[in-house]
Amino acid sequence: MASQELRWRRPEPGDHARIMAVIDDWWGGRSMRAMVPRLFLDHFRGTSYIVEDPAGDLVAFLVAFDSPEDDDVTYVHFIGVDPARRGIGLGREIYDRVASDARHRGRRRLAAVTSPVNTASQAFHRSVGFEVGEAIEDYDGPGEARVPMTLNLD
Ligand SMILES: CC(C)(COP(=O)(O)OP(=O)(O)OC[C@H]1O[C@@H](n2cnc3c(N)ncnc32)[C@H](O)[C@@H]1OP(=O)(O)O)[C@@H](O)C(=O)NCCC(=O)NCCS
Repeated sequence: MASQELRWRRPEPGDHARIMAVIDDWWGGRSMRAMVPRLFLDHFRGTSYIVEDPAGDLVAFLVAFDSPEDDDVTYVHFIGVDPARRGIGLGREIYDRVASDARHRGRRRLAAVTSPVNTASQAFHRSVGFEVGEAIEDYDGPGEARVPMTLNLD
């Protein structure tokens, strides 16, 4: 397992500033800060994760919540792993934990969307078992296509 020395916990309000400090860098210089407003950390604590190293530095995070509209679905809004820790199974382990948690709450699917340009995200999600759909044009507004991704938990 990639992460035995790491600490896994639920987000706390102070984690927002730590995520803001790294998120653009972790996304390869894209401007991502507006995508993770603090409300996600304040209101979706019980379905999200923070991963830290023994020094307390942020190693990974995931923001997810149970859909209030579809009792089968846990929606994953964001997952990010420190570039220095990629490729050793941490992203897969995060999803293993999230899938197990969601199953225990009676959810039957994980759902997420990503940008068509984020082909690494699509490849990662495919590798961990998601079905990656066709891009939906204008999904998030004019010119903002998104690719739907679904993991069956049954
Ligand atoms: C996508 C991301 C979360 C993957 O995290 P990770 O810890 O490196 O992933 P893992 O090591 O657990 O890899 C799991 C599987 O995905 C594959 N994978 C991971 N990153 C990949 C990439 N960039 N391209 C192709 N496949 C990839 C791995 O090969 C592995 O497959 P395998 O087990 O069949 O060999 C990480 O690269 C990241 O934070 N990227 C920037 C943020 C982002 O785009 N997040 C997703 C959209 S919200």
